[in-house]
Amino acid sequence: MTKTAIIIGSSGLTGSQLLKTLLTSNVYEKVITFVRKSTKISHPRLVQYVVDFDNPESYENLIEGNDMFCCMGTTIKKAGSEEAFEKVDLEYPVQFARAAASKGIKQYSIISSIGANSKSGNFYLRTKGRVEEELRQLPFQSISIFRPSLLLGNRKEFRLGEKISEFAMKIFRVFFIGKLKRYRAISVKKVANAMFSIAQQNTVGFHIYESDEIEEIAAAGN
Ligand SMILES: NC(=O)c1ccc[n+]([C@@H]2O[C@H](COP(=O)([O-])OP(=O)(O)OC[C@H]3O[C@@H](n4cnc5c(N)ncnc54)[C@H](OP(=O)(O)O)[C@@H]3O)[C@@H](O)[C@H]2O)c1
Repeated sequence: MTKTAIIIGSSGLTGSQLLKTLLTSNVYEKVITFVRKSTKISHPRLVQYVVDFDNPESYENLIEGNDMFCCMGTTIKKAGSEEAFEKVDLEYPVQFARAAASKGIKQYSIISSIGANSKSGNFYLRTKGRVEEELRQLPFQSISIFRPSLLLGNRKEFRLGEKISEFAMKIFRVFFIGKLKRYRAISVKKVANAMFSIAQQNTVGFHIYESDEIEEIAAAGN
């Protein structure tokens, strides 16, 4: 146990699951989380820093370790505007990644989205595609992009669109076969397990994991 992990977005649905996975794994002697407001979670191996995401100087010197995980994100509705959404889903992850690369972090893993494409006509998917492309330029040993379909988990906040999609996916699940398998909704536990598993494989280069592959990686890691 000599490794240190860093998570941004650790208070979210997937991030909090990933935090649990990392803390129970015994692979990391330290898990550092960067948050905008303090959480009540405490653990002997957890270090939590409350920082200003708009000001990289507030966190640059606190970055240390081996593997960084980004589970940050918002919705346009929650953020209030496309501009505010872009900050959370593009600017913050890239700024953190730049600082992490300059501090010698080897691996960067991020949750993007199924359908991410920098040329998409859809703003959400275009932003996800753009973050992938920006990260690709950075000098990490490995960059792992996870593109899940609809996330399943116990979200405290009510998101009508996601609830409707979840319901529809349950009904039509049997039709998602072959290439369509990647559109099946996926639990945040599986996404977190896959992110953890891949980080232990010490891969090199830029890799994209589609939702059906995430399912397989998570199953293989259990
Ligand atoms: N929902 C889906 O079905 C779906 C599908 C595919 C991909 N994704 C992507 O998967 C990722 C994880 O999604 P999730 O649903 O697990 O996320 P989530 O529950 O919405 O959590 C988002 C995280 O980002 C942080 N965050 C949001 N706005 C912030 C801000 N302005 N400054 C600092 N931190 C901020 C939150 O911190 P606070 O706790 O402080 O708010 C939280 O830790 C996202 O990138 C999302 O786009 C989601």
